[in-house]
Amino acid sequence: MQVTKVALVGMGTVGTGVVRLLYDQGDRTARHAGQILWLEEVVVHDLKKGREVQLPKGLISDDLARITDNPEIKVVAHLVGGLEPARTILLQLLEAGKDVVTANKALLAEHGPELFDRARELGRSIAFDAAVAGGIPIITNIGQCFSANQIQSLRGILNGTSNFIVSQMEEQGADYAAALAEAQKRGFAEADPTMDVDGSDAAQKLAILAHLAFGARVHWTEIPRVGIDKLDPADLKYAKELGYRIKLIAVAQLQPGGLELHVSPTLVKVGTPLAEVRQAFNAISVVGDAVGPVFFHGLGAGQMPTASAVVADMIDTAVGRTQITFRTLELWSQKEAAVKMLDH
Ligand code: HSE
Repeated sequence: MQVTKVALVGMGTVGTGVVRLLYDQGDRTARHAGQILWLEEVVVHDLKKGREVQLPKGLISDDLARITDNPEIKVVAHLVGGLEPARTILLQLLEAGKDVVTANKALLAEHGPELFDRARELGRSIAFDAAVAGGIPIITNIGQCFSANQIQSLRGILNGTSNFIVSQMEEQGADYAAALAEAQKRGFAEADPTMDVDGSDAAQKLAILAHLAFGARVHWTEIPRVGIDKLDPADLKYAKELGYRIKLIAVAQLQPGGLELHVSPTLVKVGTPLAEVRQAFNAISVVGDAVGPVFFHGLGAGQMPTASAVVADMIDTAVGRTQITFRTLELWSQKEAAVKMLDH
């Protein structure tokens, strides 16, 4: 059977999940890719850090050159958070001829166009399904499966931490701080959870989706956003009495004059699909002009759901499938007037 050598940069929560899937479930990659993904190198920032999964000594190092200088490694999962050195590392991987899979939505929301352009110039690809909605394959669906459609709208719950906090407050009567601490303990929250609770993380994901679905090159900070950090427990109580729940909803809606984009706590009627999205689950309702409404629901954060998306992207990259999504971005970038964001 054919072997594709792969590597990992970063072995935090998600990286550990990826190692688990590649090591313990290697037969799955063989089944779906018709080839084995062979983990050749793992590069981490701090070798001394304790790890949930022990790797053979020769496999793990803090030397990126062991990946960039090894021409046999074709696909690299880039699981480094934050903007720098994450951006520099991703560029170094591209320059070294690697196809990259990343879960770093903050990086793509900030520097996506620059990174995608550079990858294109070098004839490489960046796959990023794990960057939006964790285990839900929303990027692949929008980039590939709905290509016969003009997407009309995307409406969803894109931040697992916020949804977890609101659910805990509503269902268990937990207080805000305790619910946030629990979300951090379970590995849902960002290193700086402010990004989760003030709507920034959802806005970053919405910017990525809007780029792919509508060709909108909108910087996430331009998206009007209000987080759940402004909610009062009384808001949840009154909403409940009226038959509603409050959810942090991200919206991209095509309007005659352009694209409406925003993130805000929203009343949703109990019994409707978005109202029933609990805990750290995410959901996205997509409306396409041909397909009509399609609803996605799944875990949007956490080790194994996100690792599931990363490994799927590694398999797809190894067999050339991610090129289709990447090509969608390229076609948008060549268009003069992809949809513009409406003024607010
Ligand atoms: N902090 C993010 C969330 C992780 O809670 O949704 C997944 O992007």
